[in-house]
Amino acid sequence: MLENKYINFDKYEMFEIQKTFKTRKLAGTSEVVTQYEYKLAAFFKVKHAIALSSGTSSLHALLYAYNIGPGDEVILSPSAPVMSALPILAVGAQIVFVDNTKESFGFDIDDLKNKTTKRTKMIVSVPMWGYAINSGEIRDYAKSQNIPFIEDVSHCHGSIDEGKYMGTFCDAGFFSTQERKLISTGEGGFVITNDDKVANRLIEVRDFGKPVSELSRFPDHIGEYGYLFGLNFRITALSAAIGIAQIDKLNKKIESRTKNANRIKESISDIGWLREVAIKNESQPNYYAMLLMITSEDYNNSSVGKRLFDSGIVSDTYRFKIKPLYKMPIFKKFASDCPNSESLLRKIITLPTHEGLTSDDLALIVKSVKSMEANV
Ligand SMILES: Cc1ncc(COP(=O)(O)O)c(C=O)c1O
Repeated sequence: MLENKYINFDKYEMFEIQKTFKTRKLAGTSEVVTQYEYKLAAFFKVKHAIALSSGTSSLHALLYAYNIGPGDEVILSPSAPVMSALPILAVGAQIVFVDNTKESFGFDIDDLKNKTTKRTKMIVSVPMWGYAINSGEIRDYAKSQNIPFIEDVSHCHGSIDEGKYMGTFCDAGFFSTQERKLISTGEGGFVITNDDKVANRLIEVRDFGKPVSELSRFPDHIGEYGYLFGLNFRITALSAAIGIAQIDKLNKKIESRTKNANRIKESISDIGWLREVAIKNESQPNYYAMLLMITSEDYNNSSVGKRLFDSGIVSDTYRFKIKPLYKMPIFKKFASDCPNSESLLRKIITLPTHEGLTSDDLALIVKSVKSMEANV
C-alpha cells in the first residue's frame, strides 16, 4: 500500500545512535538531547527548542506552562485531530470550537472573535498536512486580546509562510516527530519559542517540576523536587540522536516531495472535479502530504478515499475517517456551529508525496485518480 509514511533512516541515523550508545547515557538528561535542541533552535532560528516525548505531551506541557486548568477555555478548530484536543481535556479545561475558513484549516476570524470570552486562556491553531493558514491574522488578534497563541505545527516541519518557518509566528509552536513526520524520531516532539519564561517552565514541567534556573517561580530551590508540578515528558537520548541526523535531511525531503506533488498536480490538471487547495500567498507547503479539494457535488471524499484504497493508495483523510471533533462522543458536549469545518472535512482528500515514491508509484496515483467516474 502507498501510504503517507516513509522510513528515511540510514547510516547517518545509525552513526548518531552508535555515538550516543557509547556515552552509556540514554535518558532524557543526556547531553545528546541538549545538542538536538541546539540544532533545532538553529534550524528554526528561534531562541529555544525543548524536546519532549511526543507531540501530544508537547501540548500537554504547554497547557501546564501557561497554567491552564478547570474553568479555563481553550480555542481549537473542530478540524483538528484528537491528539490536539485530548491534552486540553487532560488539564480539565473546556474546548471552544471555532469554525475554519472556507478553504483552509485556519480560523474564521469573525467566529474567533465571537467565541472569545473572558475565560479564553489559549488559542491553538492546527494547520494540517503542511499548508499555511492565516497565522499572522490569528497572532494579531490573540495579541490584541493578550491571549497566548500556540500552533500545532506537527505536520509543518520546514513549511514556509511569509518568509518564515511555520511555528515561529506564535508564542510557541509544537511539532510531533512520530515516525510519519518530516523530522522523525520514532516517537517524540518538540516546542519552539522565543519566550524565555515559557521555555524555562517547559523544562521544569518535563522533569517532575524541578526548578532549573533563576527564571523559576522558586529560584532558591533549583534542583529540588516538590515545589512545582511536573511530569516526565522527557525524550530518550536515542530518539534525540536520530533527530540530529534527521534535521540535516529535511530540506532534501521537502525538495523531493515538492517535485512529486508538482508531478501529480500537472498530471491531474485536466480533471474538473479535483484541484489542490489554494496555497496561501508567500507560503510554501512542505508536502507532508498533498491536500486536494473535491469541487464537484458528484464526488465525496469517503468514496474517493475508498476507491484509492482499493487501488493500493492510502489517503490520510480516508484512513482517519476525518470528521469534526464534536461528532465524536468525548467531544460532543463542546459542539458548536462550524459550517465551514463540516464542509471542508467532506471535500478534502490527501495523497502521499513522500520521497520514497517511485515513478511507477506516482503513475499509479495519477491513474487511480483519473480512472474515477462521476457519482463516485
Ligand atoms: C496535527 C497533529 N497534532 C498532534 C499530533 C500528536 O503527535 P504525537 O503522535 O507525537 O503525540 C499528531 C500526530 O500524528 C498530529 O498529526
